Amino acid sequence: MAIESVLVIGSGTMGRGIAQVAATSGLKTYLYDAAAGQLKAAAGEIEKSVAKLAEKGKLTAEQAANGKKGLTVCESLDAVGWGDVGLAVEAIFENFEAKTGLYKQLGARLKKDAILASNTSSISITKLATATDRPAKFIGMHFFNPVPLMALVEVIRGLATDDATCETIEGLAKRMGKTPLRCNDMAGFVSNRVLMPMINEACFALMEGVASEKNIDEIMKLGCNFPMGPLTLADFIGLDVCLNIMEVLQRELGDPKFRPCPLLRKMVDAGRMGRKSGRGFYDYSQKA
Ligand code: CAA
Repeated sequence: MAIESVLVIGSGTMGRGIAQVAATSGLKTYLYDAAAGQLKAAAGEIEKSVAKLAEKGKLTAEQAANGKKGLTVCESLDAVGWGDVGLAVEAIFENFEAKTGLYKQLGARLKKDAILASNTSSISITKLATATDRPAKFIGMHFFNPVPLMALVEVIRGLATDDATCETIEGLAKRMGKTPLRCNDMAGFVSNRVLMPMINEACFALMEGVASEKNIDEIMKLGCNFPMGPLTLADFIGLDVCLNIMEVLQRELGDPKFRPCPLLRKMVDAGRMGRKSGRGFYDYSQKA
């Protein structure tokens, strides 16, 4: 099935990035959020990001124009062109009840053959699918932050997801300029199962006084060619998000190697969530 129109639900960091890439790829894109203030901020950020990428020659004039004319921001679900939408990508916060409540609303409006995808980084696709009216057409479409710059879409197949849905989503991810890579539905999928224990171990190294924040990061940058050190990356992702994913890995896989670092927990308890709160392993309070 060829998809020409996409609805993105949730206009936070991930949702706005997904909507931006969908629109610049020439897809008719709707971005919905119940929070009008956040939606307005998202529209402004998308405009800035598209302008910056065009200025750097990373988007053609046509793609940049699509970013504007192809995007409709919707404060209400009634403003969405439901007859067009072939794919809805849910990118709201990581809460099972909130996501499944939303799927009920979407199921009543989406065309029968439309695909429903979640950008979840930690909740089981198989379990989420059971709360929808279309488990065979439900799939994980996991994007990476910052979405306009990151090449990957991790495509997660739930137990009930059918072949046609996987193939359609892979085709669409390619049209969005991304490389889709498939994996099965296990806690953390591949990306976070590998990335988060590495970040968690960097927290242990800091807690145990192996080296300073800066040296842990520089060692991994210069020694392993990482674009960002693990503690800088943790601040970028959000320490609450990192802790939540470690807890999911520990609970679902039951292996003590996934035990969250006590320092990571302490940072979250103190409200030091990383960039978004102005402080994490580093201080961002002076930065714009
Ligand atoms: N739109 C447009 N431009 C953007 C942008 C956006 N959304 N986000 C950043 N940029 C710009 C920056 O402003 C910067 O612009 P200037 O050069 O004009 O200053 C430019 O992109 C590039 O930034 P840098 O020169 O600082 O860095 P870089 O070119 O090396 O790449 C990066 C930046 C791609 C973010 C790189 O540091 C990187 O790959 N970091 C690791 C990111 C990562 O691992 N992400 C995955 C997180 S895990 C996840 O998302 C999933 C999960 O489930 C938790």
